[in-house]
Amino acid sequence: MPMSAAVPKSVLLVCLGNICRSPTAEGIMRQRTAIAGLTMKIDSAGTGDWHIGKYPDLRAQTHAKQHGYNISKLVARQVSAKDFIDFDLILAMDAQNLKDLQSIRELAAQTTNADRLARLALMSEVDISYLNQDVPDPYYGGEDGFEEVIKRLESSVDAWIHTWQI
Ligand code: 4NP
Repeated sequence: MPMSAAVPKSVLLVCLGNICRSPTAEGIMRQRTAIAGLTMKIDSAGTGDWHIGKYPDLRAQTHAKQHGYNISKLVARQVSAKDFIDFDLILAMDAQNLKDLQSIRELAAQTTNADRLARLALMSEVDISYLNQDVPDPYYGGEDGFEEVIKRLESSVDAWIHTWQI
């Protein structure tokens, strides 16, 4: 069966710290694209630099594991202008992440034709259950926040996969 031309070859998931939401998104997207038979490069990064080189927050690791996702080996890094050249699609977890990424995309457009840069979207852009809503930052909250992140990310990852399969 021919694949839709809209299927990206590479997807970068981005949040603030790259230790809670985006590594969880990476784990979910890796597993669910593999099950769907989609082959693509998947990575995650943060707009901030505080946690570079760190493994995911232990709470994020624990909740992910309880849902069958092993994110324990992922290592945080900071997003850069080069990511807009290296990836086809960059997904922001919330509106502030999206705003910060738009500024970085503009920097990248100073040296590379904007048509060749990654498309930028909100994680929830195609998810009718959470349309254009933020994936709420769980870092300063309780355990419930980490469960909510997984619930929303599973929904939004499935929604993206659906758009790539029609
Ligand atoms: P994340 O969560 O963006 O989902 O990785 C956060 C992690 C760390 C901080 C904020 C959010 N922080 O302020 O250090």
